[in-house]
Parts: sequence; structure tokens; C-alpha cells
Amino acid sequence: MSLEIKDHSISKRIKVIQIQETELDKLIFPFNKHSVQSLEYKPFSRFSLAKSVDDVFSGDLSKNLNQILKDRNSGTTIIEPNINNSKFDKDFLVKLSTAFAYLVGLPNFDSMTDKYYARFHVKHSDSSDSYLRKAYRNLDLHTDGTFVKEKTDWVLMTKMEEINTFGGESVLLHLDDWEHCKELSEDPVGKQNFVWGSPKSKNIDYKVEHPVFSKDKDGKPTISYIDQFPEPKNMEQGLFLQKLSDALEQSKNKLSFPLKPGSTIFSNNYFWLHGRKPFKQDMNLSRELLRIRGVFSQ
Ligand SMILES: [Fe+2]
Repeated sequence: MSLEIKDHSISKRIKVIQIQETELDKLIFPFNKHSVQSLEYKPFSRFSLAKSVDDVFSGDLSKNLNQILKDRNSGTTIIEPNINNSKFDKDFLVKLSTAFAYLVGLPNFDSMTDKYYARFHVKHSDSSDSYLRKAYRNLDLHTDGTFVKEKTDWVLMTKMEEINTFGGESVLLHLDDWEHCKELSEDPVGKQNFVWGSPKSKNIDYKVEHPVFSKDKDGKPTISYIDQFPEPKNMEQGLFLQKLSDALEQSKNKLSFPLKPGSTIFSNNYFWLHGRKPFKQDMNLSRELLRIRGVFSQ
């Protein structure tokens, strides 16, 4: 079965991969071989699961995912499986997301959940210590993995479920579309080492140091940034981060769009930033997300 890949209506940098029900049906049998628990306990089983997904597309899925994610002009795909039928449950989505991740590389261990992936809810009320689960706050543009030692080449986010939600659109920005990229990536302060810590819920008991801006092998700027976790050590660093935060949030080139339940955003984490708009107030609001972050295998 060949893959159908289109440009997203909002930007041709984003490639949309649609998976039809007939193709998903072919995954039911190989997926039944693995439970979510066995995938968690036996790392090798995730590779055989991923291979069974790739086989449905005659190897085209791994080829295209790798090409898109490593292409500076693109770097993001949205995968839209047609999961309207109830036979495709949440376990099915965990398996599908696992397969996507293992077709490009290896997930990093997620300390928040002690697994290779994390599932979490955004609800009406929240007592956590970061913006991640705060429904009525903007989740500002950021990259992932800013406060861990591991490299984070890519990030995969799957919307598992959405109930009583209005608003909460996904927001993305490609570094090359950002009006202030040249000015801020060439600012000497952006190349200084910053200290990055994290709140308790992340379960990381160390701090790391790295600059906000670096360069890739072709000399193009890359970014590693989130608003909450850098610990500026002086006025110069503090003011730089404020300017950076304002310049990102005020960008006119941010892409914002609704993401269908069951869909996955899969992005290069060096030149794409991601965020989320606030939700409208609703006591019964519930959104469940799954995330996997990791490295390319080649
Ligand atoms: Fe994130």
C-alpha cells in the first residue's frame, strides 16, 4: 500500500500523512501480539511492532518519516489515522505512536512517568507545577528536552482523546519563518551557556548547561528553549530571555490549527517550536496526550 502525503493547508512545510481504515485494519492482527505492558517491559518488542507497521506500507512509512523529519525545509509531519471506528482504542494509539517513534530512532526515557513515553491529562483544574497541564494558560512556544542530558532530536505528540474542549489549538513555528531568527540567534548572549533546571514533577535531580542557540552541520541556527526552566544568572541573560519570549509569542508566522483526536504531530526538535493556545472554560474539559521524545537512529 502506498502512502498518501499532502502539504498541510496552513503551510507546505508540514506534511500530512493520512492512514485509512483499510490500512489500520491490517495492523489489528500484528498489534494483538503485543500488549501495552509487554511493550513497556520488553524493548525489543517495540521494534517488531514498528516493523509490522512499516510492512503495511512496504517500507515507505519509515522512509518518508525520516526524510520529512530531517528536511530543514519541512521537519514536521502530522499523521492522521482514521480511527473513527471504536475498534481503534487508546491502546491501539499507544502502539501506533510507538511504531512511529521506532521507525525513526529510539525514545528517551521519560522521567516524568518512568517509561519510554508519557501520557497525561489536561483538565479544568490543576495543581501541578508547570504550564503543561494548565488548560486556561497559553503553553508558550518551546522545544522539548531543554533540561535533560540526553539529546532530543524529535518530539512526537499524539492526541489520545478530547472531551468538552473548545480552543486549545496546536501552535507551531519553524525557526526559518520567525522574523527575529537572525537577530536573536546571532546575539552573543544567546550563544552563552544558560543553566536549565526543572520543577519537581519532572523527576530530574540535576541541572544542565547549554546555550539557547547553536548551529547545525550546515551552519543553520537551532534552538533549545522553554520559558519556565532556564535560570538566568544575571541581568543580561534575564533580559535576553524576556526579549526572546516576547519575540516568539508575537510572531505573525506562528501556525495554529486544530488537531483531530487520534492524530500525531511529529517534529524535528531543533528548528520547530511547539505550543498550545488556551482552552475555553469548561468544568468537564478533558484532553489526554501522549508524548515520546527521542533521537534519530542514523
Ligand atoms: Fe513540549
